[in-house]
Amino acid sequence: MDNSDGQIRSLRVEHITKSFPGVLACKDISLSVNAGEVLALVGENGAGKTTLMNILMGLYQSDEGEILINEKPVRFQSPNDAIAAGIGMVHQQYMLVPNMTVLENVALGFRDAWNPLRLNYSMVRSRIEEITRRYSLQADPDAYIWQLSVGEQQRVELVKTLCLGARFLILDEPTSALTPQETDELIVLLKHMSADLSIIFISHKLQEVKALSDKVTILRRGEVVFRGNTADHSPQDIAALMTGHEVELPKREESVPAVETALDIRGLSVKSDRGFLALDRLDLSVRSGEIMGLAGVSGNGQRELAEAVNGLRKVESGEILFFGTDLANKSPSFVIRQGMGYIPEERNTEGIIPSFSIKENFILKDTDRDEFSRWGFLKQNYIDEHAEKLREQFDIRSPNTAAAAGSLSGGNIQKVILARELRRNPRFLVAVYPTRGLDMGAAEFIHNQLLAKCREGYGILLISEELEEIMNLSNRIAVIFKGQIRKVLEAGKANRRNLGILMAGVKDE
Ligand SMILES: Nc1ncnc2c1ncn2[C@@H]1O[C@H](COP(=O)(O)OP(=O)(O)O)[C@@H](O)[C@H]1O
Ligand SMILES: [Mg+2]
Repeated sequence: MDNSDGQIRSLRVEHITKSFPGVLACKDISLSVNAGEVLALVGENGAGKTTLMNILMGLYQSDEGEILINEKPVRFQSPNDAIAAGIGMVHQQYMLVPNMTVLENVALGFRDAWNPLRLNYSMVRSRIEEITRRYSLQADPDAYIWQLSVGEQQRVELVKTLCLGARFLILDEPTSALTPQETDELIVLLKHMSADLSIIFISHKLQEVKALSDKVTILRRGEVVFRGNTADHSPQDIAALMTGHEVELPKREESVPAVETALDIRGLSVKSDRGFLALDRLDLSVRSGEIMGLAGVSGNGQRELAEAVNGLRKVESGEILFFGTDLANKSPSFVIRQGMGYIPEERNTEGIIPSFSIKENFILKDTDRDEFSRWGFLKQNYIDEHAEKLREQFDIRSPNTAAAAGSLSGGNIQKVILARELRRNPRFLVAVYPTRGLDMGAAEFIHNQLLAKCREGYGILLISEELEEIMNLSNRIAVIFKGQIRKVLEAGKANRRNLGILMAGVKDE
């Protein structure tokens, strides 16, 4: 391969087409990136971004089209060919071995890509040191992967990719699993690295696209619908091109008159899986007809709070009064019967049963109700009709409701969960990170649904790390830190700065 100086001055993808059985994932896609440029590749779930990048990495073969490096056509039969040409990719799912060290994981990459005879650990170690120094990346070669946070694991993936000689980096939704702080750090890091490398950056989050990229290419349903300079376009413009319609994330209307208290949590203490107090005498009350935003860096007790309220975690002490009934240490089915709706954090494992069909997932909580069964038999025709109605109403993109729920994209899985929970007409909803990782179109839909339910008089506890989401939707905002509520603010008094300070644990005045 004539790339002997190791530099990639330009990379072009020309007229790439790729289909899977029944799906045209990429249709005549062209794009180009020059040395030192950051190209943002944006598009809704299923637009074809990952498929295109997998073709660029030699993981898939395209049906048509070609790839040119420095204006010369190349053919990648496998990722090793792409790596040899200086291209590296950090995938959406990390590919690290948890019970191995950072050093061993990096060495594993060398073993795959290079002649194993040339491999020795001291060479790998000095390579890691060289890379971490050059890009001011922090990574301890002797740490085990399982000991690292998601953000640290991602840095190891970056180090590994750079150690293998990447001069051209592909990052597939690198921020979707990160906390806001980790995201800010990553953007700064990538900005710094881009002086030396070319980057294709995939994200739904347009603030990040604005902060980092020079150029933007937008895909919609497998086709390029737009190419331009990032600086010339607002996030609103980009969102509209991405979804095909104007997107403005909805905002709550002005304050609701205070009505009855729906959820009144008093002195709640709950232990984490590791045995320490995840909630430490927490007090919080939420009214009917309001959205209470719970802001905080994840890991400060949010998960345990949601689980305790929904009967999924033992309560050590305190009360969870729900319209006067104590839910502490009650069963999940008791909580459901009281009229509690729940959008859990782990949508794939806690929110649906992935191998069940969409229609089965719709009635998970109701199989014993007269509405769906008679003398112990499910009313199949009625279940089908009901499912079809929900699919339309919630705009779930799937050809039918017999498909396995696990085969849907994240946004559509979230719509299945929301449809099931809202249709049951609960009196209250606990929504945990409801739009994490979703594209703007899906987030807009979910936000509108939450606001509509709030107008109908539901109380909603919205747990999120996205400050935009919290500030757009909430009537009041409570900040959680180390298992306690630091402060409750009227939404009009909250801004990124004062919330950020409270979330970091700084005491207010
Ligand atoms: N290995 C595969 N087999 C079949 N269909 C696939 C495969 N990978 C992706 N697809 C389909 O191709 C389309 C594009 O998917 P993808 O490239 O993952 O989109 P994005 O990364 O933009 O969310 C989707 O309809 C998806 O279901
Ligand atoms: Mg993808």
